[in-house]
Amino acid sequence: MTEENKPNQPEEKKPETGVPGETPKPVSEAPKPAAPAAPKPAVAKPAAPVKEITRRSFISWLAVGWIAFAAGTGGAVMSFVRYLFPNVLFEPPTSFKAGYPDDFLVGRVDERYKNKFGVWIVRNTEGFYALSTVCTHLGCIPNWQPAEKKYKCPCHGSGFYKDGINFEGPAPRPLERFKITLADDGQIQIDKSQTYLFEKGQWSDPDSFLKA
Ligand code: FES
Repeated sequence: MTEENKPNQPEEKKPETGVPGETPKPVSEAPKPAAPAAPKPAVAKPAAPVKEITRRSFISWLAVGWIAFAAGTGGAVMSFVRYLFPNVLFEPPTSFKAGYPDDFLVGRVDERYKNKFGVWIVRNTEGFYALSTVCTHLGCIPNWQPAEKKYKCPCHGSGFYKDGINFEGPAPRPLERFKITLADDGQIQIDKSQTYLFEKGQWSDPDSFLKA
């Protein structure tokens, strides 16, 4: 078979070089492709400090427990203290000394003990009596009006004479009187725990009036 009769075969390509006439380098000298990066070895993560967390939470719960215990104990102590010192309403004593008889003028309503003890002390030509300052209608406090010589209640208008007898307004009965005596030291002694009512004839009781 002659050259001419050879079938058309693809022409073998020669490697091109940049320089004419230079022998192309063998393929084996061509730069090798970069090898794929070796996978990094997995770095083991540090194990979670399980024990440390457990200890911390235990300490936290211990603190909470102590706080709750302290609060409960404090409340119990406060309740005990309150029990030792109960609410007490301090009121003026029902019995008191009002001074010496010469401290009172004849014909005058003495109001020195009205605010503190709720008592008027009246002296007349025969002696002394102690009147309650509580209106016998609904318990308001009347005012002594010297010009009109009467006790006038501001609530509903009841009026009482100097000796305590009611004469106007809705008050159903006279003012009450308290026990009045002379103490060992010569002072006038008033005892509010003992009252004397006119409508029951008690103003004739010797302890309802102190003779001068
Ligand atoms: Fe004194 Fe009514 S309370 S008149």
